[in-house]
Amino acid sequence: GGDDSSSAKDTSAGPDLGLISAGTLSVCSDVPYPPFEDFDKTAPTGFKGFDVDIVNAIAAELDLKVTIKDSSFDALQSGLALNSNQCDMAASAMTITPEREEKIGFSDGYYSSEQSLLVPSDSTIAGIGDLAGKKVGVQKGTTGESYANENASDADIVVFPSDGEMYAAIKAGQIDAILQDLPVNLDHQNDPKAAGQFKVVETYDTGEEYGLAMKKTNTGLIEAVDKALTTLKDNGEYQKIYDSYFAT
Ligand code: ARG
Repeated sequence: GGDDSSSAKDTSAGPDLGLISAGTLSVCSDVPYPPFEDFDKTAPTGFKGFDVDIVNAIAAELDLKVTIKDSSFDALQSGLALNSNQCDMAASAMTITPEREEKIGFSDGYYSSEQSLLVPSDSTIAGIGDLAGKKVGVQKGTTGESYANENASDADIVVFPSDGEMYAAIKAGQIDAILQDLPVNLDHQNDPKAAGQFKVVETYDTGEEYGLAMKKTNTGLIEAVDKALTTLKDNGEYQKIYDSYFAT
C-alpha cells in the first residue's frame, strides 16, 4: 500500500480488529469454487483463487498474516462458523443478501455476479423452462438453491453440500443440469479436463454482489477491511487481480 494506508498498518493506533489470534486473519472458505477458491499445495496458504488473492491483498494492507481453512458453505452463509469463532472472515464468493445480513456483517461488495444454467453439451435442455422432471443440481444454502426453488419448482432439485460433489455428479451423468453462479459454471464449461463436455445455456441477471463476511459485532474489522478494499480499488491492485482471472 501507499503512504495513506500507514495508519491502518499501525496496529497500536488502529481500530481493534477483534481477531481470534492477534496478527492473523483466519479465513474460512468453501473449496473448491473455482475461480474464486481452489486447492493449491504450492501456495503459502494452501489455496488459490480470486478470493484468496483479494484476502491476501487486504491482509497485506492491514499487516496481518493469513490462514485459510476449508469449510461448509452452509455453515458460512448461516453465520454459524463466524458466530462460533471458527474464523474471523468467510471469503467464499458469498452474495450479500438481506437474510444473511441479519446474522452476518459484510464488507462492501467486491464482485458482481449472476446465476446460470450449465448442462452437458449434447443436452436438449436449452433453459430453465426445460427442467420439468429433470434433475438440477444446486449447492446447499446458496442463492442458486433459492433461485431454483423459486423458478424451477417443476424440476427435481438435487441439493449438494459442495460444488466439487455437484460437478462430479454432472460428470457422472447423475444430474442433468447445474444452477449456480455464472463465473463458476463458466469455469466448468471452460475446464480443459472436461474438454467441451458442458455448456452454459442461460444466465439470470440476479444482480448479486459478493461480500467478505465477518461477525456482525466486529465493526472494527469490517471498517478496516472496507478501508483496505478502497485502497486496493484506488491504487489499481484490485483491477490487476480482477484482470488476472476475468480479463476478456
Ligand atoms: N454466491 C452464491 C451464494 O452466496 C454461491 C457461493 C458459493 N460459494 C462457495 N465457495 N461454494 O449463495
